[in-house]
Amino acid sequence: MQIQTTKAIITGGASGLGEATARVLRAAGAEITLLDRDATRGPLVASEIGGHFVETDVTDEQSVATAIEKASGAMSGLNACINCAGIATGEKTVGRNGAHALDSFQRTININLVGSFNVLRLAAAQMANNTPNEDGERGVIVNTASIAAFDGQKGQAAYGASKAGIAGLTLPVARDLSSIGVRIMAIAPGIFLTPMLEGLGQDIIDGLSADVTFPKRLGKPSEFARLAQFIIESPYLNGEVIRIDGALRMQ
Ligand SMILES: NC(=O)c1ccc[n+]([C@@H]2O[C@H](COP(=O)([O-])OP(=O)(O)OC[C@H]3O[C@@H](n4cnc5c(N)ncnc54)[C@H](O)[C@@H]3O)[C@@H](O)[C@H]2O)c1
Repeated sequence: MQIQTTKAIITGGASGLGEATARVLRAAGAEITLLDRDATRGPLVASEIGGHFVETDVTDEQSVATAIEKASGAMSGLNACINCAGIATGEKTVGRNGAHALDSFQRTININLVGSFNVLRLAAAQMANNTPNEDGERGVIVNTASIAAFDGQKGQAAYGASKAGIAGLTLPVARDLSSIGVRIMAIAPGIFLTPMLEGLGQDIIDGLSADVTFPKRLGKPSEFARLAQFIIESPYLNGEVIRIDGALRMQ
């Protein structure tokens, strides 16, 4: 799909990887609607880039259905869905205070995994109405997993499971959506310098950077965004998870 004809919703677009993707795709000529629960930064970013914003909770069926309707109306269509909304959580299975809280496990799965599926299923249903392009394509979905899906660390049972779920749904969803000409890919980022990490302090960031094989630094959100753009533009990419991590393998 050409970026100039791309009409994309980006969840989590008010911050970090989603925001960077919105900026890069918009600069390349795409129409963008940000879906985020952050009603302060969301409209700000949208107006800076000349895009749209709909306050959305990705875990809520009605909220997402309304957002997709509004976004499709504002952009006169919808053919790309980039899911970046997510939370980072850390808690050991058995820690100082006993067993992992069940509600924090469920909340992580609900936002990161169920939320992404909620958005992609409704977006794909909307895309099914599109006229296919010369490749027979009606749309493309890009989810955000994490290298924690494969080498999750201590304290990442919930987060790693939520991201492994994103990786696990990629192929079956690609098969499900093949009949309507919608592709799906997932990006598994290593450690990227976003607001999720910026608060950690330089010492910790230097420590994390030292573990990266090459280049020895954290990922730039614009590098994630360029990969998302490449996926949108590459019709033969489907049903796969791509790591972008400087060859980092977490201990
Ligand atoms: N930063 C990293 O190093 C890194 C690494 C691997 C994976 N990821 C994943 O990338 C995604 C983006 O991370 P980021 O670093 O940009 O984080 P971020 O905190 O900067 O941005 C996340 C955005 O998601 C939004 N959001 C959270 N819950 C939501 C909900 N229920 N409904 C709607 N919006 C919601 C937040 O408001 C925020 O704008 C996440 O899924 C994260 O797990 C990040």
